[in-house]
Amino acid sequence: MLDLDPDALEPADRYKLLIGAIVPRPIALVSTIAPEAPHALNLAPFSFFNGVGSNPMSLLFCPANRPDGGEKDTLRNCKPAAEGGLGEFVVNIVPAAIADRTVACAEELAYGQSEFDLAGLTPEPSRLVRPPRVAESPICFECRTVQVIRTNPGQPGGGNIVIGRVVRVIAREGLVDGRYHVDPDLLDGVGRMGGLSYCTTRQRFTLPFGRAALGQGVPPAATP
Ligand SMILES: Cc1cc2nc3c(=O)[nH]c(=O)nc-3n(C[C@H](O)[C@H](O)[C@H](O)COP(=O)(O)O)c2cc1C
Repeated sequence: MLDLDPDALEPADRYKLLIGAIVPRPIALVSTIAPEAPHALNLAPFSFFNGVGSNPMSLLFCPANRPDGGEKDTLRNCKPAAEGGLGEFVVNIVPAAIADRTVACAEELAYGQSEFDLAGLTPEPSRLVRPPRVAESPICFECRTVQVIRTNPGQPGGGNIVIGRVVRVIAREGLVDGRYHVDPDLLDGVGRMGGLSYCTTRQRFTLPFGRAALGQGVPPAATP
C-alpha cells in the first residue's frame, strides 16, 4: 500500500497525482474579456471544472495561480467587479471536433492577445454577458461570477475556485430535446486524463439507479 503525505511531496508530484487519478475531467473552455480593454478577448481551457447546483444554476472552475504566484488572465478578467474584474464569463463545452483547438488555447499569450485568433475559433456575441461565446461549441453557459475562493493567495500553484451563476444557456439546435435531455452523441464531449491524454465519451453504458445497479458490472457491449 502506498501511503503518501502530500505535504512531503513536491507540488509538481501532487499535481500529477490529482490529474492522473481524478479522471476523466470535463473541460470548460472559458471566454472572458479584460475589464480595462473590452476588445481584448481571452479564451482558455480548464479541466478542474464541474457543476455546483441547480438552484440557482451554478458551476465552478479552478484557475490555479501562475508559477510567479500571479493570477491567470482568465481569473484576472472574471473575478467580481469589487475585486477589479468584469464579473462575467462564458463556459463553452468542448466537443471532439475542437479538442485540438481547445488545447491550443492553453498557450501563454501576452495579456490582451486573443486565443480566439491563435486557435481559429469564432467569437459569437452572448445574450446577457459581455464575453462572447465560442460559435463552435454546442452548448455554452453564460455566467456572472458569484465568488472566488482562494486556497493560497499569491503563492505558486495556489488554487482558486470561481463560482458562477448561470444566467443563460445557449445550445445548438437539436442538441437538447423537449424534456431538456442533452444528446450525448451530438455533444460528443471530450475529457482530460493525466499527462497529455484525453478521452472521448463514445463508449458509454447504463446502470439502474441505486441498489438495482449491484451485480450489473460493465455490460459486455461497452467493452471494445
Ligand atoms: C485541457 C486543459 C485543461 C486545463 N485545465 C486547467 C485547470 O483546470 N486549471 C488551470 O489553472 N490551468 C489549466 N490548464 C492550463 C491553462 O489553460 C493555461 O494556463 C492557460 O494559459 C491559462 O490561460 P489564461 O492565462 O488566459 O487564463 C489546462 C490546460 C489544458 C490544455
